[in-house]
This record gives sequence, structure tokens and C-alpha cells, in this order.
Amino acid sequence: RPRVLSGIQPTADSFHVGNYLGAVRNWVAMQETHDTFYSVVDLHAITAGHDPVALRHSTRVAAAQLFAVGLDPERTTLFVQSQVPEHAQLAWVLSCITGFGEASRMTQFKDKSVKQGADRSSVGLFTYPILQAADILLYQADAVPVGEDQRQHLELTRDLAQRFNTRFGRTFTVPAPYIVRDTAKITDLQDPTAKMSKSSSSPAGIIMLLDDPAKSAKKIRSAVTDTGRDIVFDPEQKAGVSNLLTIYAALTGRSIDDLVGAYAGKGYGDLKKDLAEVVAEFVRPIQQRTQGYLDDPAQLDKLLAVGAEKARAVASATLREVYDRVGFLPGS
Ligand code: TYM
Repeated sequence: RPRVLSGIQPTADSFHVGNYLGAVRNWVAMQETHDTFYSVVDLHAITAGHDPVALRHSTRVAAAQLFAVGLDPERTTLFVQSQVPEHAQLAWVLSCITGFGEASRMTQFKDKSVKQGADRSSVGLFTYPILQAADILLYQADAVPVGEDQRQHLELTRDLAQRFNTRFGRTFTVPAPYIVRDTAKITDLQDPTAKMSKSSSSPAGIIMLLDDPAKSAKKIRSAVTDTGRDIVFDPEQKAGVSNLLTIYAALTGRSIDDLVGAYAGKGYGDLKKDLAEVVAEFVRPIQQRTQGYLDDPAQLDKLLAVGAEKARAVASATLREVYDRVGFLPGS
């Protein structure tokens, strides 16, 4: 079976529908066809300032949600990144074959550092994509299911894999991004030309999986649309309505065409009301199952310990080979 690795940051207490539809939904589906490794990337979550107590909590909430949406510990290796020390170790080696200019061109760093002030953003935020490359290459992943915003990081990962292989001998599988176009960029309800984002959207622009459905209904009702009346799918001219249709279609399995047909002659208010229902139906069982995992943190930590052990078996074999190739002594 081809191998998959992907990761998600535990930076808020809940994932949003962009995370779910852009990435996590595909993680679940790929369990059928791939050998799947997924990580809650807590090392990445400390790059821009954080609270330790909140981080520990949101790491567990993230893992609980991933099990709740359908990751099966029997078939998937789900682990917390900091519990597998090889990630930090490989990141150092990769940082030594990454150009300073190359790292400077990463647009996510540029966006985030502009917001924080370039001088005040951490070196960790700058080298973040190199750690991400290490995450992927340690597992010899063939495919990496992510949303559109990760495309450039995946390009860097491929470049680093090829560069290392050329310089030191074939060591890494060169991974391909797995980006499902229809849901690769779910947009902000309040600003439907921007992506829905934990770090930059206003709370009113984000639908959280763990929010009370009444709260999400309110956000959906006040989603920005346009001055027209017709419910048609046109991401350029009618970004807001199209985003609502995309979410609706993805959560129900109905096609966009089917929905557009069904809403002919109806108004935006009808669409929003029904979508709020769809979201409520969707999140209810996820919230219950998430709570079930959180009610037994000892059992959750045990599942994660098993995941870390399985991950380490693979990661340490790759790191050993890397250390050997770059010329470190045996036993390092
Ligand atoms: P993160 O935690 O920001 O997001 C997790 C996943 O959700 C996707 N995503 C979206 N997809 C569609 N529409 C949106 N509005 C949207 N917002 C987020 C992201 O593309 C991502 O797939 N750097 C990564 C985490 C990471 C990683 C890795 C990913 C660390 N190591 C190794 C893959 C492989 C990140 O910050 O994702």
C-alpha cells in the first residue's frame, strides 16, 4: 500500500470546517487505500507564542476529534509530534541543506511575520516548513493530503528530498501533494475571498466543529453573500454563495448541480437555514464522540502512546539511514 502522512496543528480547541473538508476528511477516506500516518503537530504550534496549559489541552482535544471523525487506531498511526524526537533531529539536518533565500520565499512565513512584525517573529516560525518536510520525509510518504495553502510547503519538501538524494544517495521517497480541488480552499464566511483560517479569520467567519450548532447557525445566517438573488455556483462572481454551496455539498454528499437545481427560485435565506441544519446534524455525533474520548484522558493518552511507538519504529529507521549518509559515527 502507498504510504500517507499528514499533520494538523493543535492551535485552537476545535478544528474548523476548512480543516475538515480540505484535509481531515481525506485522511479518513485514505485509510481504505493507504498505509496512513497522521500527526498532531505540537512542535509547530509553539512557533508563534502559546500558552502551555492551553497547548496540552488542545493537543488532547485535537487527537480526540481525529478519532471522533473516523480515524481508526487499528488502521491508522495517529501520534503527537513531540513524542517522536526524530522529527526535530531530521529537521536540523534538512535545515543544513536549505538555502536561506529559499526559506525566505515561503509565503506563509511572510504573511504571518508581517502580521507579528518581522523582527519579533521567531526563528522557529521561519524554519517551520523545514520541520514540516522532516515530518513527511521520515515516513517515506508517497502522498500528503492537505488543503491548497500547503502547496508551497510541499514543493519545498520535494526539493529537499531530491537535493538530499542527489547529494548523499537515494534515501527519501519524493512525496506528492494530494489536494482535492473542490474543497481545497474553504473560505471565510465574512470575507469569502480569503481562506477560512484559525489564525486570521474573525470568529464570525469560522464554523468550528465543536461549537454549539446554534452559534454556527447564527454565523451562517450572517455570512456575507452578494446583492443578487439567484443561487448559482460561481466562485469568481458569487464567492460567498459558492462557498456555502461547497460546504453543503461536501457535508451531504450531494452534487453542486443537484443543490443548485433544488434551490432554483428560493432565496439565500433558505439556503442558509438549511445549511445550518446540515452542519448541526453533522457535528452532533462528532461532538458526542469527542467528549467520550476526553472523558477518559488516560485511555486517550494510551492510544497516543501506542501511535508514537509505531511512528517511532518507522522514523528511527529513516533517521539512522540519514545519519549514516551524512557521515555521523555509528551509535549517533
Ligand atoms: P493547519 O493546522 O493550518 O491545517 C490543517 C489542514 O487543514 C487544511 N486547511 C484548509 N483546507 C481547506 N480550506 C481551508 N480554509 C483550510 N484551512 C486549513 C490545511 O491545508 C491542512 O492540510 N503546516 C500544516 C501542518 C503540518 C503538516 C505537516 C501538514 C505540519 N507538518 C506535514 C502536512 C504534512 C498546517 O499548519 O496545517
